[in-house]
Amino acid sequence: MLIQLTYASRTARILGPADIKDILGASQRNNARADITGALCLNHGIFLQQLEGDRAAVNALYHRLLKDTRHRDTAVLDFGEIPHRRFTSWSMGLLTSLDTNRQLFLKYSSSADFDPYSMSTSTLRSFFDEVMQNVRWLE
Ligand SMILES: Cc1cc2nc3c(=O)[nH]c(=O)nc-3n(C[C@H](O)[C@H](O)[C@H](O)COP(=O)(O)O)c2cc1C
Repeated sequence: MLIQLTYASRTARILGPADIKDILGASQRNNARADITGALCLNHGIFLQQLEGDRAAVNALYHRLLKDTRHRDTAVLDFGEIPHRRFTSWSMGLLTSLDTNRQLFLKYSSSADFDPYSMSTSTLRSFFDEVMQNVRWLE
């Protein structure tokens, strides 16, 4: 059964490019093998990730993620069966606030801060539809 899981978390410390590269490297390696696709957003110390794939595989990954000490305050925001994937081309795309994506984060924020913890599931879904258009790989 194909499902998507969306969660948010906070960085546990200041993460540098090497940390992000490590996370994306592991994601590309493991997600491709497990047929998991998705996107990872990082904005002002808050991660927002959408994972898509087989229910058991996504659950196994989520439980592994919970043990990762690079982030904390992990909260599932949306979970459910999907008819098809949003992110078919990436094993894990990345969206950061470093570039032109700032406006996209702002568009979905009620205040100056991007706060996925308070976003409704329908807003999250609209957000990820747009992420799909903007996501890129970090080299
Ligand atoms: C915010 C965040 C997102 C992550 N996303 C993934 C992911 O999509 N896939 C993955 O395999 N690991 C992801 N990781 C890393 C895992 O927690 C873990 O370190 C990694 O899967 C271990 O892989 P390895 O045993 O191949 O080294 C993420 C970590 C963080 C902090």
